[in-house]
Amino acid sequence: MTDSRIAKAQLAADGPQVGVQGLGCMGMSWAYGPSDAGESRAALERALELGVTLYDTADAYGAGENEKFLSPFFKRHREDVVIATKFGISSSPEEPYKRIIRNDPPYIRQCVEASLKRLDVEVIDLYYMHRRDMGVPIEETVGTMAELVREGKVEHLGLSEVTAGELRAAHAVHPISAVQSEWSLFSRDIEAHVVPAAKALGVTLVPYSPLGRGFLTGSFSNADTDLTDQDFRRTMPRFTGENAAANVALLEPIRAVAEAHGASPAQIALAWVQQQATVHGLPVVPIPGTTKRSRVEENVGATRIVLTADELALLEPIAAKVAGDRYPDMTFASAGRE
Ligand SMILES: NC(=O)c1ccc[n+]([C@@H]2O[C@H](COP(=O)([O-])OP(=O)(O)OC[C@H]3O[C@@H](n4cnc5c(N)ncnc54)[C@H](OP(=O)(O)O)[C@@H]3O)[C@@H](O)[C@H]2O)c1
Repeated sequence: MTDSRIAKAQLAADGPQVGVQGLGCMGMSWAYGPSDAGESRAALERALELGVTLYDTADAYGAGENEKFLSPFFKRHREDVVIATKFGISSSPEEPYKRIIRNDPPYIRQCVEASLKRLDVEVIDLYYMHRRDMGVPIEETVGTMAELVREGKVEHLGLSEVTAGELRAAHAVHPISAVQSEWSLFSRDIEAHVVPAAKALGVTLVPYSPLGRGFLTGSFSNADTDLTDQDFRRTMPRFTGENAAANVALLEPIRAVAEAHGASPAQIALAWVQQQATVHGLPVVPIPGTTKRSRVEENVGATRIVLTADELALLEPIAAKVAGDRYPDMTFASAGRE
């Protein structure tokens, strides 16, 4: 592992430059079971040392806890970090994983004020709509987001899990800097419409869960047996039961390519996502999530791996064979709405 900083990418035409790999911070407070706060802080600091500048959170991650947890780190390094957070998903304490989706203007205004307060910053660098509320026209939602830009509360706008049509409609109201959607060796549905639309509009792709929520690393093989009760992945169809058993077999080519590079499967999964920038011709800034300093180093190392055409061909068939949906409830995902 070298200590040199990673390359940079442009976060949309009018956006800032960011490290070509960002850091997903969700798991530091939520979703994947208990984490060690001290180790998470060490991971954040190490990431910045290595040139990671885009940090991803959301108001939904631990009902604001993740934003609060990150605040001291952001304040310490305000000039060097690009803070991305999101509105649009909430839940009740009784059912923490049941999603309530809202995109209406009064709700957005309430959310941005709450995020600014929890983060304790003057401005959010990149503000995403986390999920689409089908009861509100996208133009109205983005119109309100654009007002936040004019008011100086938000610098750049992003959308998560949108269709190509929604992206185009939104972009016509106000430039969209980034689309954040799931993209990995296991989840490639956005390549059909969203990626070409982002390319045409000059929008950066920010792949979330680029490690297939950890499954592509081989760190767990069945969520039912390998993960704690508090782990959200136990509700995800592709990580449980027969689907998990079938999907584990799909990791073999990733292991083979990893061996050839003297790399880990995680690094190959990340190198593949990163290389989609070249394959599709648009900026791609994946945000792998980790709560561990050593894994930040490992994951950042993937930005220097280039896969050969033969290796890409070996990895190509994997996604089409994956058993099970990405989410227990797919109505909130962009797939199927095109
Ligand atoms: N927009 C959306 O709807 C949405 C949805 C999901 C996630 N996100 C964002 O995307 C970020 C990343 O996605 P994600 O966290 O769901 O999934 P991910 O990045 O695909 O995988 C994260 C999992 O992999 C493990 N991991 C990371 N590096 C590893 C390595 N080198 N070796 C072995 N295991 C490793 C992590 O555990 P350790 O912590 O133990 O390393 C964690 O369990 C999130 O943090 C969040 O900010 C956005």
